Amino acid sequence: MVRETEVTPRDLVAPLFVIHGRDVRNPVGSMPGVFQLSVDRVVAEARELWSVGVPSVILFGIPETKDAVGTPAFDDGGPVARAVRAIKDGVPDMVVMTDVCLCEYTDHGHCGLLVKDRHGHTHVDNDPTLDVLAREALCHARAGADVVAPSDMMDGRVGAIRRALDGEGFADVALLSYAVKYASGFYGPFRDAAGSTPSFGDRRAYQMDPANQREAIREALLDVEEGADMLMVKPALPYLDVLARVRDAVDLPLAAYNVSGEYAMIKAAAANGWLDEARVVRETLTAIKRAGADLILTYFAKDFARSI
Ligand code: PBG
Repeated sequence: MVRETEVTPRDLVAPLFVIHGRDVRNPVGSMPGVFQLSVDRVVAEARELWSVGVPSVILFGIPETKDAVGTPAFDDGGPVARAVRAIKDGVPDMVVMTDVCLCEYTDHGHCGLLVKDRHGHTHVDNDPTLDVLAREALCHARAGADVVAPSDMMDGRVGAIRRALDGEGFADVALLSYAVKYASGFYGPFRDAAGSTPSFGDRRAYQMDPANQREAIREALLDVEEGADMLMVKPALPYLDVLARVRDAVDLPLAAYNVSGEYAMIKAAAANGWLDEARVVRETLTAIKRAGADLILTYFAKDFARSI
């Protein structure tokens, strides 16, 4: 009667990895229970999630080809666009979110376009990347996505995507910004799943320093100003202090991403018999909600929903 926080399946968003082909279900080695799924299998998974009360999925694409400028990211026949259409067709009330980023689509694995500076060093080129991200978001919106979620961390992308959506008649498509995204070692297993490990360097020039908390508030407020409808903090567990501060600073719906490494840690410990999986999953999701999350993106979505 006096419990303050309760996690329900309604709070959860299940991340799904979409690959080309038919009847494909490739296990992801570092994420037991997670698979790369072809579009037909994604629809079946969405139906199952819906039936246990999980109302939303977020889609990540694994394209057949990659290039330097991420062209496959805005292919209307690509895995994400096709999966959005198929889910909206088969499970119409499901809230379909799409991850908007270039790292899965560039051959170098960075989240933006590259440029060489006058000293011969290669950098991610912020401003020209915005146009490609906007084209990707439009592609997802055309397919019927309810929510687009940019995770690239380029400056100004929320405004650029919002303008593009509004300009093309997609004012109703919501924008969930990965506003506060740290340069984290906890994304390791995801990069296996999505094939998006950078071929050189790392993402510290565009993702945030784990040591910074005030910067999180600046990032969040900038995205509110640029037109975000919802914000995200990522990863979740090591950043609950940040989540709580962002919760206090903004009144938009707030999401937290319980990322691949957080999933893998629990799975590995449970497989060894060192942790009671169901118990720590419940505790983890409750802690994330208690800290201030309205929505939780988690690979545990289906298992948790089934367990209650
Ligand atoms: C794409 C993206 C990443 C994740 C979500 N979107 C990886 C990254 O930034 O390297 C990580 C999700 C996870 O670890 O579960 N930029």
